[in-house]
Amino acid sequence: MSPRNDDRCREGVLAHNSRAWDRLAAGRDALTRPAADGAFADPRTWLGSGGTAGRSWLPERLDGLTVLCLAAGGGKHGPLYAAAGATVTVVDLSPAMLALDREVARERRIDMEILQGSMDDLSMLKPAHYDLVIHPVSTCYVPDVGRVFTEVARVTKPGGCYVSQHKSPTSLQASVETGASGHYELVHPHGGGEPLPPAPPSRLREAGTQEFIHSLTALLGGICSAGFTIEDVCEPDHTLSAAAAGSFAHRASFVAPYLRVLARRSAVLAGAAAAISRGPIVLVE
Ligand SMILES: C[S@@+](CC[C@H](N)C(=O)[O-])C[C@H]1O[C@@H](n2cnc3c(N)ncnc32)[C@H](O)[C@@H]1O
Repeated sequence: MSPRNDDRCREGVLAHNSRAWDRLAAGRDALTRPAADGAFADPRTWLGSGGTAGRSWLPERLDGLTVLCLAAGGGKHGPLYAAAGATVTVVDLSPAMLALDREVARERRIDMEILQGSMDDLSMLKPAHYDLVIHPVSTCYVPDVGRVFTEVARVTKPGGCYVSQHKSPTSLQASVETGASGHYELVHPHGGGEPLPPAPPSRLREAGTQEFIHSLTALLGGICSAGFTIEDVCEPDHTLSAAAAGSFAHRASFVAPYLRVLARRSAVLAGAAAAISRGPIVLVE
């Protein structure tokens, strides 16, 4: 595809997904519900460790840190990080999702920066500004995930952390329900650049959105080549014993729905990544 068609495709996807998330917010979808009172009673505890049990990714204390909550509208992440003492910027594509953040901020007298924009163009943010970037599941909504990681690397401080969660490519390839064989089936090809066909609403696919499958090469390799070092990876456990066949938890015991990644921005690697894209690296002692 030519660069101009690429841009047209990107703009079409962004406009489509912005409207879709506005509708989800208006319909009070589960992912658009602001944090409850209980979470604000002890925001640091509610935010948890970031990783799985026994592997703590987030710093114990968040006060004084600059935190970017990326594609995280909805009145949950941003307000809770701010309530835990961080200096927060929330960026999201959907005006309705950001309106929820504004509402929570007003009600709880929370001070945070709230900006509309796409995760693959953070030109409104200062370079090397954030200690921590929190990025809930959303890379499925852009056609070119490499662009997102380049932008996140640009705005993260050297040594800063990037915690992101993604829909696993295998999960997006697989059927949401069991087929005639009684098994979950691989129904979509790996990659290809086209959005997935529309699917009925479920915990795995948000109604009306355009979603793309990104391979592990694009996700993990993309994070590395943008200038991060991956320090840990986990597939959060959504299984339940005795889950009914076809339920979210039952399917999760066959294919993990999400992949969560802890990466650290390295000043050296950022230069190396640029060098890789220009040609071979020459190591000098
Ligand atoms: C899973 S929701 C965010 C978090 C949610 N409030 C929760 O509780 O997990 C995904 C978000 O991604 C946003 N989004 C979709 N495409 C985006 C893009 N290109 N740039 C920034 N945000 C985007 C949506 O508007 C939506 O708010």
